[in-house]
Amino acid sequence: MRLIIINGPNLNLLGKREPEIYGSESFDDIFNSLKDKYSSIDLEYYQSNIEGEIIDKLHEVGFNYDGVILNAAAYTHTSVGIGDAVKGIETSVVEIHISNIHAREDFRHQSYIAPNAKGVIFGFGVKGYELAIQSFL
Ligand code: DQA
Repeated sequence: MRLIIINGPNLNLLGKREPEIYGSESFDDIFNSLKDKYSSIDLEYYQSNIEGEIIDKLHEVGFNYDGVILNAAAYTHTSVGIGDAVKGIETSVVEIHISNIHAREDFRHQSYIAPNAKGVIFGFGVKGYELAIQSFL
């Protein structure tokens, strides 16, 4: 099974950024434990702060991978382009958020990805990435 985790803007700062919301682990640490635990899966990771690069990556993987785990971060709430890319590809996308976006500001309640996602996981901290992997197994 071939899966990719795609993280959007500011998630390169995980571990340093607002740790009370997003935790104190870096994504490298999170990713390395997932690779160890799910060694039978071909698991990749991509992060970009640039909307168009996330769209390009979705196009690149969206016809030949078994699944995409997408935390589009702030673009979730603004990007028609990423929403359209998720709609346009064949690979199933699971949307994930570390925080409970529905317990936060109103602008975080809107997602352009959710209508075309296979499912949405949010509010379980960084454990959500593992829950998303399990959803594909
Ligand atoms: C986030 C939630 C978004 O609203 C926010 O802009 C992020 C991270 C999360 O994982 O909880 O950057 O996607």
